[in-house]
Amino acid sequence: MSQLDVLPATSPIDFDFTSFDRPSRPDAITRSHGHTVLSSGITDETFLSTSPTNCPRFSSDPLNELDDAEIDVIDPSLPPLLRGHPDIHLRSGVIKASRLAAQSEHNAEKAFFVADLGQVYRQHQRWKRFLPGIEPFYAVKCNPDPFVLRLLAALGAGFDCASSGEISQVLQIGGVDPSKIIFANPCKATSFIRNAAKSGVDMMTFDNGDELYKIARVHPKARLVIRILTDDSKSLCRLGLKFGAPLVTVPGLLRKAKELGLNVVGVSFHVGSGCYDSNAFSDAIMRARSAFDMGKEAGYDFTVLDVGGGFEDGNFETNASVLSSAIDRYFPVRESIRIIAEPGRFYVSKAFRLAANIIARRAPMGDCSDQRSDVDSSQPTVMYYINDGVYGAFNCILFDHQVVHPYVLSMGGSFHLPSPVILRASSVWGPTCDSIDCVCPVTQLPAQLSVGDWLAFENMGAYTICAASQFNGFEISSVIYTDGGGSGSAEVRRALGRG
Ligand SMILES: Cc1ncc(COP(=O)(O)O)c(C=O)c1O
Repeated sequence: MSQLDVLPATSPIDFDFTSFDRPSRPDAITRSHGHTVLSSGITDETFLSTSPTNCPRFSSDPLNELDDAEIDVIDPSLPPLLRGHPDIHLRSGVIKASRLAAQSEHNAEKAFFVADLGQVYRQHQRWKRFLPGIEPFYAVKCNPDPFVLRLLAALGAGFDCASSGEISQVLQIGGVDPSKIIFANPCKATSFIRNAAKSGVDMMTFDNGDELYKIARVHPKARLVIRILTDDSKSLCRLGLKFGAPLVTVPGLLRKAKELGLNVVGVSFHVGSGCYDSNAFSDAIMRARSAFDMGKEAGYDFTVLDVGGGFEDGNFETNASVLSSAIDRYFPVRESIRIIAEPGRFYVSKAFRLAANIIARRAPMGDCSDQRSDVDSSQPTVMYYINDGVYGAFNCILFDHQVVHPYVLSMGGSFHLPSPVILRASSVWGPTCDSIDCVCPVTQLPAQLSVGDWLAFENMGAYTICAASQFNGFEISSVIYTDGGGSGSAEVRRALGRG
């Protein structure tokens, strides 16, 4: 396997950081021979030497060298918004960490995310292009990042909230009308429903009779959306085990709602998170049509169709096309119907990368075990321990069924891998004392990789930070924000009031 097979296209090995002159803006990216080349940027010439303890040394701190014009303070309570390609900031973070380590700063080598808000913006544009008739209500649970929420609010998105906490967080942004929120948790605490009423949030889902009694008691003016059960068997995370009214129960629930004088305005579903079969959407729309017809029989005239979440980055266009055709087929007349969705993963998955430091390594000593002829070369012989794990950002491995792939961000104090690079079957572990804390059971990594080097992971924006814990006293990795430097970066700044 060649090293480019191992390292993804955006790997820093593809970058040319050889310019010694510090450019005015670190965001000029061009493509050459199929490789990404950074024509200007933070120089790494000072990052090449390695101390005896494998701690890279450098003489300048690129983050501190950024012009004021390259850093925007959006809100004093938030970190600054930087400019430029996220890979530049991954590198800056590594160099900065190395400098802090050289100064013996505590936790200098802390893992960190780089969030590319330009990517969130581009996903929003993609949504509007391929699903123009469907209003996105971003699922806050997926990643309640304050910059992401602000950006999406500024772009006019609505929000799917699952709790009072999420509702408060969205309303605190300022400028979000409560009508742009759906309380999309079919099983809510009574106090949360009361709080929604106080906050002016009226639209909420239900899928059982008890919920109707609670709502009738504390929020009788609510606009209710019945969440129906659909086929979620083609999804990464199935939600039907816990939520969704089977169609046979819908007439009874609607009768009860009528009896209680409640206002049911529409139907919602969720095909499951990470849906890989577009037919799930068309099947769900067919069921939603039946539920609309049941509504008519119960004396309601539904005006809301909520197609839920489940949208993936990779197959978005296919899902969008199948969903749109199904809507055309089952809802040919829909002037009076507002169609909304609750996308989460689609918006943020690719926007966040994580850099983690190798804090420890367990490798065969000297030349004994790896010289044996009976050693299976596909089995890991080296264990790397990094400073984020399944109790932190990589909880997505346990809760979201993700498989993550590391690539080498820096090795031996350099962003350039030596050539040729010899790969070795390795495993990657988190920092806690629990053996469940395994990030990659088997992966191919350079044999020279050692303590102090950095690994990076892409696609770390969905269901990661939101469920991270501080188990064993490890801090949740912090986030560096950038406008991405490419297409959409100017729009991000404008939307955040820094155009
Ligand atoms: C009610 C509801 N809506 C939306 C979402 C977001 O789903 P996704 O991230 O797959 O788009 C979820 C995820 O669990 C959910 O439970």
